Amino acid sequence: MTTEGRGTWGSRLGFVLAAAGSAVGLGHIWRFPYITGENGGAAFVLLYILCVALIGVPILFVELALGRHAQLNPVGAIRKITGNSAWKYVGYLGVAAGVCILSYYTVVAGWTFGYIFKTAFGWGGPHGQLTGNVLLNALLFLAFMLLTVGVVYGGVQGGIEKWSKILMPILPLILVAIILYSLTLPGAMEGVRFYLRPDFSAITGQTVLMALGQAFFANSLGMGAMVTYGSYLSKNENIVTSGLSVVGFGILISFLAGFAIFPAVFAMGQDPAAGPQLVFVILPEIFAAMPGGLVVGTAFFVLLAIAALTSTISLLEVPVAFLIDEKGMRRKVATWLVAGVTVLFGIPSVLSFGGSAFFTSLPFLGGMSFFDLMDFIFGAVALPLGGMLFAILVGWRWGMARAVAEMAQGNPAFMGLPGAVWGFLVRYVCPAVIFVVMLHQTGILRKLME
Ligand code: TRP
Repeated sequence: MTTEGRGTWGSRLGFVLAAAGSAVGLGHIWRFPYITGENGGAAFVLLYILCVALIGVPILFVELALGRHAQLNPVGAIRKITGNSAWKYVGYLGVAAGVCILSYYTVVAGWTFGYIFKTAFGWGGPHGQLTGNVLLNALLFLAFMLLTVGVVYGGVQGGIEKWSKILMPILPLILVAIILYSLTLPGAMEGVRFYLRPDFSAITGQTVLMALGQAFFANSLGMGAMVTYGSYLSKNENIVTSGLSVVGFGILISFLAGFAIFPAVFAMGQDPAAGPQLVFVILPEIFAAMPGGLVVGTAFFVLLAIAALTSTISLLEVPVAFLIDEKGMRRKVATWLVAGVTVLFGIPSVLSFGGSAFFTSLPFLGGMSFFDLMDFIFGAVALPLGGMLFAILVGWRWGMARAVAEMAQGNPAFMGLPGAVWGFLVRYVCPAVIFVVMLHQTGILRKLME
């Protein structure tokens, strides 16, 4: 198999922006603020940072090292270091997770698209009218999928890198503008206080689970997205500092998103603990009611759509890279094929918001929707599981000596203490912590089923 024509990043900045684009998505701007608001404010922020530092960063380095070493997709990369062993199924799990996450994530991404127009042109009606409208939902889903295809079609440099370079710098600009506006609203400080008030009593086993899950999802870890992006890196690239920039940028955007949302929520006397509904139900009402809300609201949904697009790109790229490397398919064919399969998989998710009674409330799962089920299996369980397996694979099978040597190419200083600390985290801390957390998770699952 040749790696010819796979593509490489054109520049270091291009890689950092593409990887940061993959990381920063709905998970940061939509999910992080509301789970922080519900789970102890500043206490949760600290817990999240701890999870990212101790588990997220080590796994990110594992994925990048593996990808750059092999210069292949997750399945190919694992095969390259373990031969034709059962380990390759970890790669297949990643490819499958890419398709499955993309299939429901794009539904929400489609809403961001819809809300840009809804806010800009002042189309009324509550959120339920958008999501319950099957045809509109399906069209938005398809439109977002086509946008994603359009970028991935262009390849690593001509598509992903080019668009990341255009879109990513816009993101913090819009966010900061919204924050400045939001903070000047009367009663805004109330929101800041709610967001940041540290409530350590809110930290429970469940909260730790949320923080760890968020560390994986928000940093695009556990399914080989970073193996794939790492595989387009050249050997002299410093993956240590590039990786840390990606994580740091993500934490910053997550943290800032709360300052855009909560002050506005409090200024308009809305419920901050509205959960997942916060962004799509409460915020549009707020924008509709506040002065300048039309412009700010439109800007907010443009922000969300950009963040979502650079993430859907990376989700699509994993299975596409797999087909290119392993099946010798041409990129354009692979892109259309994966997109087609994803659309089929996405139909039940599109129907999960009232479109179909069955998918909206699955009878055998106590009324959980198909969408929630997908998010639970692939967003919450598969990523930490994949991350744990990646850590064991690299820490115990490939070996830390080889992994540290890979990391040290481009950053010789990694050879000493940093490499030793990383090795300890990868071999012991990551597998043990993730295992315990997953036991807890399945315990909860059992209780739910009783
Ligand atoms: N990180 C993205 C977010 O926060 C979602 C995402 C994109 C993702 N690619 C991924 C999650 C790969 C896990 C794996 O919204």
